[in-house]
Amino acid sequence: MQNVSVAVIPGDGIGNETVRAGRRVLDAAAELDGGIKFEYTEFEWGCAYYLRHGEMAPKGFLNTLANFDTILLGAVGYPGVPDHVSLWGLLLPIRRGFEQYVNLRPVRILRGVVSPLRGRNPGDVNFVCIRENTEGEYSNMGGRLHAGLPHEVVVQNTVFTRVGTERIIRYAYQLAANAPRKRLCGATKSNGINYTMPYWDEIFNEIGEREFPEVNRWLCHIDALAANFVLKPDEFDVVVASNLFGDILTDLGGAIMGSIGMAASANINPERRYPSMFEPVHGSAPDIAGRGIANPVGQIWSVSLMLEHLGRADLGKAVLDAVEDVLEEGRVRTPDLGGRNTTDEMTDAVIARLAQRLR
Ligand code: NAD
Ligand code: IPM
Ligand code: MN
Repeated sequence: MQNVSVAVIPGDGIGNETVRAGRRVLDAAAELDGGIKFEYTEFEWGCAYYLRHGEMAPKGFLNTLANFDTILLGAVGYPGVPDHVSLWGLLLPIRRGFEQYVNLRPVRILRGVVSPLRGRNPGDVNFVCIRENTEGEYSNMGGRLHAGLPHEVVVQNTVFTRVGTERIIRYAYQLAANAPRKRLCGATKSNGINYTMPYWDEIFNEIGEREFPEVNRWLCHIDALAANFVLKPDEFDVVVASNLFGDILTDLGGAIMGSIGMAASANINPERRYPSMFEPVHGSAPDIAGRGIANPVGQIWSVSLMLEHLGRADLGKAVLDAVEDVLEEGRVRTPDLGGRNTTDEMTDAVIARLAQRLR
């Protein structure tokens, strides 16, 4: 029996609703399979905790989390606490502290979903974004001088280290080398950003030439790349991007998949020195929080990525297949997909399909 300890951080807003869905699917998969078992410890950290205690999580929370095999997270950030305070108080320190430098975010039109892109059907779009997750534009370095005065200056530094840049690009090449068409697109902006992005391009080309000559690589400026996500999404196998570019591209990825509520992500420490973390791409969605209507698919797909990371790609695939079965059948849908069903009803339907597949 594989026993897995999971630190659960529902966080804020719909995170509480979707994390529950993710846990239920994990438990259903484990029970049906019989070879894996999950033990959860839930942490009530987030914006409500901040309003009571003046911090997003207790001091030393990374040491607490380090003892777990893996982390399941909902969303962090809610009106009432400034976003930079909440995110730098919880989510971003986990990604950075645990060297989860790979943020893997699949973009794929699932069976049964109508993409807003005209003429694009399930199977036409299927690629993965590899987002740098620990440095780049999210540097926490900079400053503000002469606050409020006419000559006020605000500076935010962008940091690209050799280690950080090489490891993310190499990871993306490895994935691309195993993709059917061996295609890797690097997101750049070396026409306008004249230190970091030319450096990124140089490393992208060096690693490609020396270590992965079989991979078809090309660089694309982020502005044109955004347009190509819409115009030619079938071009991509793997896209590698810096932290901010990857962030923006993957909400766009969610949109072309039919709803950002369906986009999943894995924050991976490939060396497995620290736990990896699984969470949907979307945020706490204050506009629909508390109504029980959030689409749980992003969280459920993230759980599928967790299973894959834990060496159970078979179970992960069964979970995603079950999601697609439900979407294809089309009877149960949350409002973001034009339906009237709740988060729980969607989750029930996925579990029922999973049971059919695993029995
Ligand atoms: P958001 O992703 O929360 O919401 C954007 C839009 O998408 C909203 O209209 C929302 O209703 C919809 N949406 C999102 N998830 C959905 C789901 N599962 N089902 C149906 N509809 C869904 O983005 P935002 O409004 O920019 O951010 C809200 C808060 O969440 C902010 O505090 C932000 O910083 C935070 N945030 C956190 C994370 C994270 O924890 N990883 C990610 C993004 C945003
Ligand atoms: C995401 C989110 C976060 C990010 C925010 C909330 C800091 O948008 O996970 O995509 O930019 O990484
Ligand atoms: Mn984002």
